[in-house]
Amino acid sequence: MSIHRTAALLLFALFTSTGNTAEPSDNSATYKPTVLITGSNRGIGFEFVRRLAGRDWRIIATTRNPDGATTLAELAADDPDIIIEQLDVTSNEDIAALARKYSEQPIDILLLNAARGPGSGTALSPLSRLDWDLADSFFQVNAIGPMKVAQALMENVKASQMKQVIVMSSDSGSFVAGSQLPILYHYKASKAALNMYFHTLAFETKKRGVTVVMLHPGLVGTNEQLAKMPGSIKTEASVSQMLTVMDGLTLDDNGQFISYEGESMPW
Ligand SMILES: NC(=O)c1ccc[n+]([C@@H]2O[C@H](COP(=O)([O-])OP(=O)(O)OC[C@H]3O[C@@H](n4cnc5c(N)ncnc54)[C@H](OP(=O)(O)O)[C@@H]3O)[C@@H](O)[C@H]2O)c1
Repeated sequence: MSIHRTAALLLFALFTSTGNTAEPSDNSATYKPTVLITGSNRGIGFEFVRRLAGRDWRIIATTRNPDGATTLAELAADDPDIIIEQLDVTSNEDIAALARKYSEQPIDILLLNAARGPGSGTALSPLSRLDWDLADSFFQVNAIGPMKVAQALMENVKASQMKQVIVMSSDSGSFVAGSQLPILYHYKASKAALNMYFHTLAFETKKRGVTVVMLHPGLVGTNEQLAKMPGSIKTEASVSQMLTVMDGLTLDDNGQFISYEGESMPW
């Protein structure tokens, strides 16, 4: 990081830091929190954009294919505070370009939502047909990519008022809660790795006042197949409850794995 960038972010932090409260304490009438969301063109990520736009936040809505993100573009057309940016979380070039472009921008919430879904590719395979290139892709998108984005943007989070890193995890990554799901090898293993990466990161960030939390969004009907599953909930309901959880977070929650209902999740 350049000396210029460090100084700018430090100065911002000095003049605005008020401790780690979930709601930013608004010391200027014009202060708007900024959230950066990965995978924001559909599903849970898009719903977060919609809901936070309703709170009048600044939103850096990232997607790996801005040209194909028509619903997101429609929303952004009516709201100058929604900025769409290209980000494939497996691309070092995309991550570096985004970090460069926003080097002076405090980020109140870094929302690491993008993932490969459990059934994508030939993921539903037994041992005899496990595809190791696919395993590599699951780990790059679901675990390593989010850590790289966190690494690239951590100074931006530290310089903000709210200082939150929210990671969209899954009960599939839990040895207890997800244990009833058979053969989703790569998805489950990648989400367990994600949990361990960010749980470990939480030790490092606590002294900087940054709260890192992993959330399980529930079984959410973000596609037709999921919506038909018994017990699935609507995307709007999941995001609404996760926002309530996020609003109540303090530094004491650092490193926790929490359900959309606010319950502690077993590892
Ligand atoms: N839905 C559920 O029941 C459920 C349950 C537990 C956990 N979760 C977790 O919640 C999060 C959101 O789930 P969802 O159901 O909304 O998922 P989704 O509808 O499948 O959307 C996934 C998002 O991630 C993006 N993405 C995939 N690969 C990417 C990459 N390499 N770089 C950047 N973006 C990428 C997708 O972009 P494209 O449109 O370009 O593919 C899409 O925007 C995920 O982390 C998921 O694991 C969901």
